Amino acid sequence: MSEKVYPVSAEWSKRAWVDDAKYQEMYAASVRDPDAFWGEHGKRIDWIQPFTKVKNVSYAPGAVSIKWFEDGVTNVALNCVDRHLARRADQTAIIWEGDDPNESKHISYKELHAEVCRFANVLKAHGVKKGDRVTIYLPMIPEAAYAMLACARIGAIHSIVFGGFSPDSLASRIEDAASAVVITADEGLRGGRKVPLKANVDAAADKVDCLKTVLVVKRTGGSISMQPGRDVWYEEAAAKASADCPVEPMNAEDPLFLLYTSGSTGKPKGVVHTTAGYLVYASMTHQYVFDYHEGDVYWCTADVGWVTGHSYIVYGPLANGATTLMFEGIPTYPSISRFWDVVDKHKVNIFYTAPTAIRSLMGAGEEPVKKTSRASLRLLGSVGEPINPEAWEWYYRVVGDNRCPIVDTWWQTETGGILITPLPGATALKPGSATRPFFGVKPEVVDAEGKILEGACEGNLVMADSWPGQMRTVYGDHQRFMETYFSTYPNKYFTGDGCRRDSDGYYWITGRVDDVINVSGHRMGTAEVESALVAHPKVSEAAVVGYPHDIKGQGIYAYVTLMTGEEPTEALRKELVAWVRKEIGPIASPDLIQFAPGLPKTRSGKIMRRILRKIAEDEFGALGDTSTLADPTVVNDLIEHRQNKR
Ligand code: WTA
Repeated sequence: MSEKVYPVSAEWSKRAWVDDAKYQEMYAASVRDPDAFWGEHGKRIDWIQPFTKVKNVSYAPGAVSIKWFEDGVTNVALNCVDRHLARRADQTAIIWEGDDPNESKHISYKELHAEVCRFANVLKAHGVKKGDRVTIYLPMIPEAAYAMLACARIGAIHSIVFGGFSPDSLASRIEDAASAVVITADEGLRGGRKVPLKANVDAAADKVDCLKTVLVVKRTGGSISMQPGRDVWYEEAAAKASADCPVEPMNAEDPLFLLYTSGSTGKPKGVVHTTAGYLVYASMTHQYVFDYHEGDVYWCTADVGWVTGHSYIVYGPLANGATTLMFEGIPTYPSISRFWDVVDKHKVNIFYTAPTAIRSLMGAGEEPVKKTSRASLRLLGSVGEPINPEAWEWYYRVVGDNRCPIVDTWWQTETGGILITPLPGATALKPGSATRPFFGVKPEVVDAEGKILEGACEGNLVMADSWPGQMRTVYGDHQRFMETYFSTYPNKYFTGDGCRRDSDGYYWITGRVDDVINVSGHRMGTAEVESALVAHPKVSEAAVVGYPHDIKGQGIYAYVTLMTGEEPTEALRKELVAWVRKEIGPIASPDLIQFAPGLPKTRSGKIMRRILRKIAEDEFGALGDTSTLADPTVVNDLIEHRQNKR
């Protein structure tokens, strides 16, 4: 672990919203009296009818209930669009940078308003009403933001499915949400390559009963088939729609969106976020963590298919009246300087990306970065996985020219917004540490039995109390919500992450302690990959674990037992990789597959993943006790035939 400390510069502590003294004061106030603190900060959004109650939360076993601002009435689109029209109608809301560097555009708040209203009217014309679920399967084009805000405007609940998911994954999400409407594009475009989005929707549609309408945005003009009665070109529908649509008054606790995310077991869960608490929290963290000031150009490189895109491309920045950049492409196209070319082209001040992107760019050396100016950059951010100190130092020195603080922000789909993070004017930085809790956040480190650990320690990370952006339930399954997050440690929210706290009270996230792996910042349940593998006719059993990967953070290592009589060939290995891509999507492709005649099991038949993890990590000297295995000899075979990573 790096022991280096980067103190806050005098300039930063002066210019930022909060310096260290102010952080201490606000933090203390936020945990001493959450009602007073959030009652005050709840006013940062506009209300149709103000709230009189602030926090109403119980983490009690079997009776978890989370409500914030529960009697207030507002609307997210009102806050992200309409309220800016008086002062910022002509200011750019969204800078869209296409995959092709010659394609970009600026969308003002006035234009955003018209587009969102039009989209909302198209949804209404296709029968979408308050409370209905709309699935969005779009590339990174402005219509993605219009569609999200259009749903919010009329009270529909959006469920965005990342464009890298397969038709099967899409179908199960459409089905779980019972969406009658899907919004997609003919094709996506990433790194010059086309993504067959509409064809994927067609394939998904064959597997579900609820789908009635597919709205298709034209992106590439590629040839696709349109099914009469079901498929509608968005542009044609929009041409007939009015650019004026009233906002639906929404209760603070009405759902805003569902977002499916992976856990240890079972199918991905629909994480439910509601209206007001989510928006207060997303906008407040966006302002303080990124030290956003009027006029800044802000760029988060995530995809709107992930929570980072929801909170920190669309909702947080737009609620703050910011200029947010939306990028369709990838960091390496058309050249490895693309990120920094875009920074220079649009004079980006605040840049937020993932460690995996930094690590992949590091491999190409400093020159592709150094040949760009990057003089506009003031602050850098990191999210999605632990950032190793080497990558942190490179980001700081090469990208930021030793000038820009890095905010390493820890949070989750479930948390709605950033929970542990430096504030650039307040927090001395330590490379690799997410540092300290945001206002109102009460982290604790507990041991396996739930005992609260004090001072410098290492254990599991839990939250002792709620914050407004917290998820409220699992869509359609509150029991699963309570079991997943509140049963391991009663009366606490369990994050699933391990963490260390140092003697300065800084938090160092060490990674997942459950069967979730984090591949290039994408969350994946090992059980999902296993069930895809065993669905293949030649596979009898599979066990999947993560292993350290230089660029992806973690890679996917699959142990596969074949049906009797099947030959473990190279061709079959390729076939299985292709199979998982088809079943889940390219992000779930196994990096390594080891054919294993037997898996290490206890006498009761439980696979001992601990052993498989150690072998995948090349730490087979430290396998621990294997005497409880039904057949201890399988371990030798596994070690002997382990897959080489280098
Ligand atoms: C991991 C992404 C270390 C963590 C916003 C968490 C991180 C999971 C960090 C959530 C960070 C996210 N340092 N680990 N700064 N940020 N993680 O739901 O394991 O896609 O539980 O949300 O990513 O992933 P999710």
